[in-house]
Amino acid sequence: MSSFLSNEQLRNIAAEYGTPLYVYNADRITEQFQQLKQAFNSEKVSFFYACKALTNVSILKHIKSIGCKVDCSSINEAKLAVHAGFPSSDILYTSNGIAFDEIEEAVSLGININIDSLSNLEKFGKKYGHNYPVGIRLRPNIMAGGNLKISTGHDTSKFGIPIEQLSDIVRIMQQYQIHIAGLHVHTGSEIKDVAVFMKVTDVFFDLVPHFPELQFLDLGGGFKVPYQDQEEGTDIQALAKEILAFEEKIEQTYQRSFQVWFEPGKFLVSEAGYLLTSVNVLKETTATTFAGVNSGFNHLIRPMFYEAYHRIRNISNEKGEIKNYTITGNICETDTFAWERPMHEIREGDLLVFDNAGAYGFEMASNFNSRYRPAEVLVKEGKSYLIRKREVFEDLLRNLVEPF
Ligand code: LLP
Repeated sequence: MSSFLSNEQLRNIAAEYGTPLYVYNADRITEQFQQLKQAFNSEKVSFFYACKALTNVSILKHIKSIGCKVDCSSINEAKLAVHAGFPSSDILYTSNGIAFDEIEEAVSLGININIDSLSNLEKFGKKYGHNYPVGIRLRPNIMAGGNLKISTGHDTSKFGIPIEQLSDIVRIMQQYQIHIAGLHVHTGSEIKDVAVFMKVTDVFFDLVPHFPELQFLDLGGGFKVPYQDQEEGTDIQALAKEILAFEEKIEQTYQRSFQVWFEPGKFLVSEAGYLLTSVNVLKETTATTFAGVNSGFNHLIRPMFYEAYHRIRNISNEKGEIKNYTITGNICETDTFAWERPMHEIREGDLLVFDNAGAYGFEMASNFNSRYRPAEVLVKEGKSYLIRKREVFEDLLRNLVEPF
């Protein structure tokens, strides 16, 4: 059973809170988490929600309430997680390209840390020696993910310490007696193929003997969810089976046992989210009919930035004749959400909903063109709660300094 909000629920929410609006369904997040828990069904496997997908504190609190841990990509995300009530042992900080003082701050919070460069590893060793167990992020030189922009493990990627520098890692570890507690690899987002995760476990398998104090193997995030009709996501059952077999192989070969960690972002929140917009103008041209909504890439940049497909539905005219429309926004730059998309007939004022808007939707929104970012609403057990107020004009002036 999967819970999606009905068109009627979405229309009522739009009437109550206005548009543009992000709406999240907490029950769908829970359901996705349960799917992971049930598939793996092992105390040895932990899930850390990659909160860069959606950091609203009410979402973080929900994630915590269902027993999921949290992965952060900046020290501020880590502080939001602390604010949301996560214990430090349930917070993971996997950063990239950061100054060492962020790592020091993470240590002072007592959270789990994955280090992503030799330079920071060396600084870490000098300062903490054996006193603070730490993970290292590796770059395995594996090409994976939905498109190059969201691929992070390949041989020209800036992420992680390149695997060919293993001898440097071991040298630094030994020199400073660093307690390397974990190995981390995240090869990309929207990885459908289970074999990609298993390639990473092959890499881990060979590395284990080099790290005598390992406690966890972290495979990152990247589970694919369907965006289009008929599209399929990562086969979680198949992945779980193979990961558990990998655990056994490790135990038999090395007589050692490790926690396996995952950091799903999209998988947990993508399908839980909707962007509700209203049609401002219809414009018929010889090329296409434009339906211009009260949004743009300032609210949902994925279609423009990654050529990502988002299902768009007219929920004000469910029985309307199907016609083709080009859905654009109100930004002074080309902001095409979809070109010539078949939709139920659109009238000005109709509500168009964008599906799969929970992950990297609001989170990548901006105030471009001095427009407000959308408000956010969370639906929990059928009841709706405002979790971020709509911005107002004063918000655009906040922090501005006017010396003249
Ligand atoms: N762990 C690490 C270290 C990551 O860098 C990421 C995503 C994740 C976990 C979560 O990946 P997910 O399960 O959400 O695929 N803005 C892009 C996605 C960028 C992902 C960046 N890192 C998009 O909208 O497609």
